[in-house]
Amino acid sequence: MVTLRVGILTVSDRSARGQRPDASGPALKEKIISLGWLVSEMGLVPDDLAAIQAVLAKWADGFALDVILTTGGTGFAPRDITPEATQAVIERPAPGLVEAMRAASLQITPHAMLSRGAAGIRGRTLIVNLPGSPRAALENLDVILPVLPHAIQLLREDEAAEASH
Ligand code: MTE
Repeated sequence: MVTLRVGILTVSDRSARGQRPDASGPALKEKIISLGWLVSEMGLVPDDLAAIQAVLAKWADGFALDVILTTGGTGFAPRDITPEATQAVIERPAPGLVEAMRAASLQITPHAMLSRGAAGIRGRTLIVNLPGSPRAALENLDVILPVLPHAIQLLREDEAAEASH
């Protein structure tokens, strides 16, 4: 069994200002823990390009996380810039993950088209943008959960990855 080390970053102006409790970060944390994986970092930043980039780079480079999940800031509002911050820090895009999440989410709501979420790899860390509402974040996470252990085995260059091909 692969135990993933996960960081969860909530991106929300209102939650960062204390005007709305962060429900999505804790919901994602509960889900990750229920899988037996580790939530190593939790964070909350406003919809600010530099602030998001700084946390993503710090967690990927210094904290040896396997996966960073962001929640929020993927929509069309002018302040929604999580995908841009993510694209600025990743070295290799992982478009299959967001294509799959949008395709599956379209079966649930046409609003899935409005998520601009990105995903990609920095070093050995996979960064994935999820939408902001707890329900949407969990629905999208559910889509990629089955492939995350193998993705991380590949990033770690784990020899067991060969066996699961
Ligand atoms: N995906 C799923 N599975 N379920 C949802 O309810 N909501 C959508 C979309 N993706 C949704 C979803 C909506 S309403 C928006 S605006 C976009 O995600 C972007 O959300 P964000 O701005 O909170 O990141």
